[in-house]
Amino acid sequence: MSSFQKIIVVGSGIAALSFAKTISENCQVFVMTKKQYSASNSMLAQGGIAAAVSPHDSVEQHVKDTIVAGCDHHDDRTVQEVLRIGKDLVKRLVEEGCPFDKNEAGVPQLAKEGAHATERILHAGGDQTGKTLVQFLKSQLGSHIHLYEHHHVIDLLIDDQTCVGVVWKDERGHVHTMTADAVVLSTGGCGDLYETNTNDSSVTGDGLMMAYRAGAQLVDLEFVQFHPTLLTIAGTAVGLISEAVRGEGAFLEDETGRRIMEGIHPQSDLAPRDIVSRVMFHEQKAGHQTYLNIRNVPHFKTRFPTICALCKKAGIDLTSGRLPVSPGMHFLMGGIKVNEYGETSVPSLFAIGEAACTGLHGANRLASNSLLESLVLGNKAARRIEQLPKPHTTMPHIPMQDVWPVPNISKNKLKQWMTTYAGIVRDENNLKLLLNTLEQVSFQVINVKDITNEQIELSNGWGLAICLVKSALYRTESRGGHYRMDHPERNDALWRGKQIVHEKGDIHIIEKERIDASWNVYS
Ligand code: SIN
Repeated sequence: MSSFQKIIVVGSGIAALSFAKTISENCQVFVMTKKQYSASNSMLAQGGIAAAVSPHDSVEQHVKDTIVAGCDHHDDRTVQEVLRIGKDLVKRLVEEGCPFDKNEAGVPQLAKEGAHATERILHAGGDQTGKTLVQFLKSQLGSHIHLYEHHHVIDLLIDDQTCVGVVWKDERGHVHTMTADAVVLSTGGCGDLYETNTNDSSVTGDGLMMAYRAGAQLVDLEFVQFHPTLLTIAGTAVGLISEAVRGEGAFLEDETGRRIMEGIHPQSDLAPRDIVSRVMFHEQKAGHQTYLNIRNVPHFKTRFPTICALCKKAGIDLTSGRLPVSPGMHFLMGGIKVNEYGETSVPSLFAIGEAACTGLHGANRLASNSLLESLVLGNKAARRIEQLPKPHTTMPHIPMQDVWPVPNISKNKLKQWMTTYAGIVRDENNLKLLLNTLEQVSFQVINVKDITNEQIELSNGWGLAICLVKSALYRTESRGGHYRMDHPERNDALWRGKQIVHEKGDIHIIEKERIDASWNVYS
């Protein structure tokens, strides 16, 4: 029997639901989400979930593709484990009746995306994979899982350096606390820190900053993935055009019809995302418009219903055969450093999904590996928590952060700065300028009782932006999603196997190492 009685999960995407599906009925689980449960990046995931389920594929090949895309900045054992366990979990979902799209033989249809050697992406509802998975997992939850929407968790309760609960605000702004035997952060990354992004607007880096304030390590923040194809109307991104569209034969071109990826990379339009995004960036800088030509994509309307609806809403005529696209922030490879079970360095605090950095994605995530990681880490964290002895926490008065620094800038300004100076192409001058600006911003101090949700997000975003920009300045090389114009090459002699860590107000560089499960010792 589990010795844990009460667990709080913050966030409601696939990692949170995989955790909730797995955890023993002996635990009471409170899933708290700051908006409605459907406000997550998982719900928006179009392409699918990568798993080597085809007889023509292998976990070894999937591992190889993951490491090549991620530029050798991985935890190799984690890559092996997540892809192997992920394959089994996906097979189990198929057996349980998760409605993946099937071919005529009744087996899941597999698609191809960038940097995959073969077709290995399962999808559902055409381009509604995330939404379908969320609904399927949610339908499987037992009565020991309690979902609380509009419960904005703003901070962690820490007693004797152990996480013992959360501080949250209700819809009227009233502050509450809830204690727990373990807290699992599944809050996503920080897409909303950038002006042009594919993320749900609730993904503002809150979980990362809560963990940081609690003493956990933030790592690899410089590795930001920019997706090449966001539908863009009059300079504003209005939604994602899945890479699966290129997997079905679409290609990138300029206003004259010149194919812009030709001759750049052997995988052409399906090259790793950092390469395609940079080409798009430079084309636009040179004054070109960038389009996705979809004329050769068979059955576009039935295969990509979400994208068709998006185009219709944006007033794009699909018969023109091309969609105006631009690159934008998509995924944070870095995050809260965790071990293979999602344990952070703070006892009783776990992180899973995009909020966590497991070492799977390296410097650049392979397409459709994130839903897989979320499934696996949710599952492993649940199994781990069931096994751990219950910590003997007493519950004295636990102090909470009662005042918050809120910068005197608008969120839009912060997003503009991040996009311009810490975006697809970076250099020392611009990063220094941005860091200086962020550090010089005046701020007001607001009591927790009076602070609004928007001010909390701005405060977190500002703090996280400073950490991210410092990491981007430190790493004087280009690798994966981090491209420095002044250091355009990968520098293995200086940087291979090195990780930039933010911890307790300090920044340092460590030799990247796997964290053993024993680092989180319960007594
Ligand atoms: C996409 O559909 O292009 C996004 C999939 C992913 O980022 O894994």
